[in-house]
Amino acid sequence: MSKRIFLSPPYVGKAERDMVAQAFDSNYIAPCGPQVDAFEAGLAKLAGRRFAVAVSSGTAALDLLMDCFELDSSWEVITSSLTFIASAGPAYHRGARLAFVDSDRSGNLDVRLLEKALKASRAPRKMVIAVDLYGRCCDYGKLEKLCTRFGAVLIVDSAEAVGAKCGVRPSGSAGVAAIYSFNGNKIITTSGGGAVLTDDPGIAAAVRKRSQQARENCLWYEHERVGYNYRLSNILGAIGLAQLARLPAILKKRAAIAAHYRAIGGESLPPVAGENHWLNIRLAKDEAGRDALIAALAAENIESRPVWKPMHLQKVFCGAKIYGGKISEDLFRRGVCLPSGTGMTAADLRRVDKVLERFKA
Ligand SMILES: Cc1ncc(COP(=O)(O)O)c(C=O)c1O
Repeated sequence: MSKRIFLSPPYVGKAERDMVAQAFDSNYIAPCGPQVDAFEAGLAKLAGRRFAVAVSSGTAALDLLMDCFELDSSWEVITSSLTFIASAGPAYHRGARLAFVDSDRSGNLDVRLLEKALKASRAPRKMVIAVDLYGRCCDYGKLEKLCTRFGAVLIVDSAEAVGAKCGVRPSGSAGVAAIYSFNGNKIITTSGGGAVLTDDPGIAAAVRKRSQQARENCLWYEHERVGYNYRLSNILGAIGLAQLARLPAILKKRAAIAAHYRAIGGESLPPVAGENHWLNIRLAKDEAGRDALIAALAAENIESRPVWKPMHLQKVFCGAKIYGGKISEDLFRRGVCLPSGTGMTAADLRRVDKVLERFKA
């Protein structure tokens, strides 16, 4: 059997190993250290933000933000239905009311439906968690205007969108705060990790403090609230620092893979300017076509998977409100995420092409 082609495996090598060795040799293998500091500085620069706080995952980054805003049942949190569960999970755990909004054809949150949801909300406090789906940025300008008009806190989940842009604005730059993920399958990885990006010094300080058990600035361990242990270790920061230096080359390779898939044809999501091409989507004719394509790829030892199952179809969120729903349902029914890893070779792409050829309309 030929070697397995994964969806989006980590792409690491000597640069990452050397940086980890440097951290190791200097004995900075505890949570804090110069590599994680430099990684944060690099992330803030990438996102065009004043502050970046590196944490243990994208989910932890969202959880800390929910904690900083003291989310509870008085809040309504409106987010995309077409996303990974972590966009909604931290708000769910804090008892906030959840409302989901359908996508437009780009796959991102439909701003007209978001307006409808904000108008309908009777909650005293509102938060919008917009998701840059599959590395394709939302329209930040429109979202910010809308959230300001309705007094809603805007958080952008850019977990999948490191290195992407909305016009001249980098992902991570929109809203009161945004988050990145460095999970193993993301554009850059620290094996597991995430970050909060913000211009607000109060939010940055609160996120940092709460990620470190909320210890007061005091000689002994003094606590006025209970925090979390969500820090990113310096060793993982070292991996991230090396990955960040490679990001331009990674984006170039991802764009070449996307161009390849587009050139061979078939229905896909419409291109979005500035996307980072994290995962490439192929839309089959129908649900049976989706499953057949995934099975045919699997038979050739090639990993693929359906587009995210919308949150409004998940049993756990069956009580939540949904605005629209048909587009995300259709994308789920027909969408297949194709292998898109930075390390894909021409031979790997040929193996995927061979299967795709059989599924051409
Ligand atoms: C849209 C989205 N939000 C949040 C997360 C959570 O990130 P992490 O896996 O680092 O916790 C992910 C991915 O994993 C994601 O795809």
